[in-house]
Amino acid sequence: MSYGSNDGGHGTGVAQVEGDPFADPGLPHHTPRRTDIDARAANRAERQVAALFGLSTILTIAFIVCFVAIDKEESMYVVGLGTVNTLNFALGVTLGGSLLCIGFAAIHWARKLMNAEEIVDYRHPMKSSPEDTAEVLEKFRAGVEDSAIPRRKLIWTSMLGAMALFPIAPVIALRDLGPLPHKKLRGTLWDDPNHRQIVHANDERRLKPSDFALGSMISAKPNDLEGHDELAKASILLVKLNPSEIRSKELADRGYRGILAYSKICPHAGCPLGLYEKNTHHMLCPCHQSTFDLADFGRVVFGPSARNLPNLAITVDDEGYLVAKGGFEEPVGPSFWERGDA
Ligand code: FES
Repeated sequence: MSYGSNDGGHGTGVAQVEGDPFADPGLPHHTPRRTDIDARAANRAERQVAALFGLSTILTIAFIVCFVAIDKEESMYVVGLGTVNTLNFALGVTLGGSLLCIGFAAIHWARKLMNAEEIVDYRHPMKSSPEDTAEVLEKFRAGVEDSAIPRRKLIWTSMLGAMALFPIAPVIALRDLGPLPHKKLRGTLWDDPNHRQIVHANDERRLKPSDFALGSMISAKPNDLEGHDELAKASILLVKLNPSEIRSKELADRGYRGILAYSKICPHAGCPLGLYEKNTHHMLCPCHQSTFDLADFGRVVFGPSARNLPNLAITVDDEGYLVAKGGFEEPVGPSFWERGDA
């Protein structure tokens, strides 16, 4: 097999191959354009390009004239657009036309007059010459000799030990980030039957259904949080919807007379939620705009959250106060290792 050379790195790149069915076919044969072989056609193309550039110049001058001459308050009727501001319309047409002419001229110039022949430009070999390689190796050997490593085995061995053990230090320092969470990320204080009463997030009074007007939203938490570091995870939002707007009976049964409870922690990256739009029942996260439909099990309707907003089933106790029926049925908040889903 033999390959023909190109002309010093700047040739047609067409490889000449004998008996190789997978050989590079090279570039297609170059067919000259009319403007390559006919001087009159080339001159005509030149005049067309010049005309486009000239038209662009005229439109730019017209733009300046319009800017100076047309009254800002003047309006006119344009078919298809209706009544428009005359100055804006004139400036748009002249500036747009001017740019369009420059674009058309450049394209026409490139297609008709610039060299259209494809060429292959081969790279020079990147490998160093044998002399350079030998010189570098010689310098490296001399450096190793100078460092006394071959003669001082004790330094070599002790250095290896020090380098091998050093990475352990930062790994141990990671423990300073705090105790491992183990199963704590999976549940919240609502799992504990002693913390099922729903109290107001600010004044800690117990909440009753009568505290809610239609469309209202209240931030809440479990009773007796004192001494627990659970506030971030257990915080909830309660909203009151018209029961007829709740999308499923299953969801309606998890609430109480239109009052539904959801985690306050965004499942995307953990920002606290609170931007509620009562007409659409949408809860918006201010961090990255994940939007959840509270009338439809907290379904994600927009944004980067990969999971719906967790719902907390609620009811009322014998005294008529709102309480959680149990804990959340899934981990609240953002993803974490071992969670098992996105
Ligand atoms: S934290 Fe809520 S959308 Fe990112």
